[in-house]
Amino acid sequence: PYEDEVRSLLARMTLAEKLGQLQQLPWSWDLNPGSGSTKEVEDAARTGRLGSVLSVFGARTTNALQRIAVEESRLGIPLLFGLDVIHGFWTNFPIPLAQAASFDPEVTHTDAEVSAKEARSNGVHWTFSPMMDVTREPRWGRVAEGSGEDPYLTSAFAAAKVHGYQGSGYGAKDRIAACAKHFVAYGGAEGGRDYNTVDVSESRLRNLYLPPFKAASEAGAATVMASFNTVGGVPAHGNTHTLTDILKQEWGFGGFVVSDWTGVQELIAHGFAEDGADAARLALNAGVDMEMTSTNLRTHGKNLLRAGRIEEQRIDDAVARVLRLKHELGLFDDPYVDESAAITGPSAGARDAARAAASRTMVLLKNDRSVLPLKKTVGSLALVGPFADSADLLGTWVVPASAERFPAVKVLDAVRAAAPDAKVTYARGVAPEGTDVSGIGEAVAAARAADVTVVVVGEPSALSGEAAARSDLSLPGAQEKLIAAVAATGKPFVVVLVNGRPLTVGDWLDSAPAVLEAWHPGTEAGHAIADVLFGAVNPGGKLPVSFPRTVGQLPVHYNHESTGRPDAAANKFTSKYLDLPPTPQFPFGHGLSYTTFDLGTPTLSRASVSAAALRKGDTVQVSVPVRNTGSRAGDEVVQLYVHDVAASIAQPVRRLRGFRRVGLDAGAATTVRFTLGADDLGFWTNDPQGEFQLEKGTFELFVGNSSTAEARLALNVD
Ligand code: IFM
Repeated sequence: PYEDEVRSLLARMTLAEKLGQLQQLPWSWDLNPGSGSTKEVEDAARTGRLGSVLSVFGARTTNALQRIAVEESRLGIPLLFGLDVIHGFWTNFPIPLAQAASFDPEVTHTDAEVSAKEARSNGVHWTFSPMMDVTREPRWGRVAEGSGEDPYLTSAFAAAKVHGYQGSGYGAKDRIAACAKHFVAYGGAEGGRDYNTVDVSESRLRNLYLPPFKAASEAGAATVMASFNTVGGVPAHGNTHTLTDILKQEWGFGGFVVSDWTGVQELIAHGFAEDGADAARLALNAGVDMEMTSTNLRTHGKNLLRAGRIEEQRIDDAVARVLRLKHELGLFDDPYVDESAAITGPSAGARDAARAAASRTMVLLKNDRSVLPLKKTVGSLALVGPFADSADLLGTWVVPASAERFPAVKVLDAVRAAAPDAKVTYARGVAPEGTDVSGIGEAVAAARAADVTVVVVGEPSALSGEAAARSDLSLPGAQEKLIAAVAATGKPFVVVLVNGRPLTVGDWLDSAPAVLEAWHPGTEAGHAIADVLFGAVNPGGKLPVSFPRTVGQLPVHYNHESTGRPDAAANKFTSKYLDLPPTPQFPFGHGLSYTTFDLGTPTLSRASVSAAALRKGDTVQVSVPVRNTGSRAGDEVVQLYVHDVAASIAQPVRRLRGFRRVGLDAGAATTVRFTLGADDLGFWTNDPQGEFQLEKGTFELFVGNSSTAEARLALNVD
């Protein structure tokens, strides 16, 4: 669609105007045009030297800026407004990592729908989301933005989020265009240091990092953002193999590729480009279509073309991709937004959705002696810890819903509202960071005087997200000392964690009867935590990422490849640390409930299937009965893992190929069915041209409620 319109416009454009469409410049949030600092952007819009603006929102602001482009530039091409709407616009849903913990893609779909509506009504056309960087690095701050360590889970969430943002067409006034980022393998940055090197084999690239992007592309993601890392020595922004050979040619991706912030310019610092002109050439030729923030293409495009270092055809292709999206968004028909209809804050409905989502993402890590749920009729309750009376619960990327505009509901306020008859006392104990322990005495006194204590500890939002790598994954500051002091009272207590990454829980875990992983839950944080603490919601989330025992154990992830010497406790000469068990503290897929479930014996629709039939679309079904054996309603996430016993490339010891979150009343039962096809049993080889191989042999299937599932079946592929 729109080919004729795009071609005819291209035919009328000067080279400068074409290069202008490939330029994106940053704005300064919701400032209005004419404020001085935005003059460069306004001038570029006026002269047709600008295609897109990022970090801009607000119906009045965007309309005013759009008017300059549409009414004052020669061709009147509308601007495309992009913003990092990552887990909310006004209404913040839990961070994406938390959303993945729901094991319910509907959660992320709802976030995206609510966010799209709020954002579009404020003039935003395009979000730089979803982020789908699979990572095995909890030190990396951006683990908070993705869906964890598994490509299958991440793919499901990536597709759901794209659908949620875009609906059946982003021409609709309550939809926005999505951006699959960061392409590619950014989650593999060495040591978890942001922007760092990634060196992967073709098979790992295709089996681990690419699947979510493929899923997003198949879901219709409008755009893709290049990543800051290198891939096998070649920076992603200059990587023809990933951007053009795989994304655009092999997958037929028809949208456009935007650089990350100064990502084109950074080709120089990478030691890949000699100067700005060279950077522009390398990026454009590799497949980048739009340059974010730096201006190398716009500045050097003309000379590069004249010198034959880039081709007009490639420029036209990039411009056509950008113009097509503008058409699809309906910007040529109506470039403006109705200022009187702008959503100005979280609606009651949006808040309800965020609250339900947040409680659905929480993971009950431990619950000895059923300390949780708390009784609403509890006589006295102490709330202690640096996050008990804190609004710093939104997590990373809360543009534009800043903590000042729409602060998160605090746990203390929500607990008081949830248990109005309880005597609730509060003592902070310690700050989120820092070594001052002088407040611990007050917290201990509160815990001693109370029937039960809730300790709310974790990471400030600023400790995760971009450029927020940590070398130490324990609770910051003196928070562990606070837990130890509360534990020493001998009174019952519960630890609530609010954090943006897996933490090392350390010695305090043994002393804590119950631990609830609440992540950074967003705007409705306090309510959602109280819902789970008092049992209005029975937690059913599962970990989308392994929690290591120590930083020294990294990387530790469930889907590691088989080695020649798998761990066997009795044998020293196996692949392990002498001073640690081989398992993580909490495995991928782990999560408890206030009720209990019994998973029956799984069965296969047949024990044998031919590879040829699978290749033609044949499938095998796995069924497992599940029963709620406890006394309250709850959710279980049934998980299916696959292991190819012998293959031409060493395979993961198991990999997730099916999950289903089911809600069951007390005593109720159902049967969960999974379908396995060639995609689930085969793998990508090291062939750079892309070879997907389904090999004959035995496949072990594991069905259960975590990645340590023991129930196994054998499937023979012949
Ligand atoms: O979208 C982001 C990206 O994830 C990191 N660098 C900046 C971009 C735009 O804000």
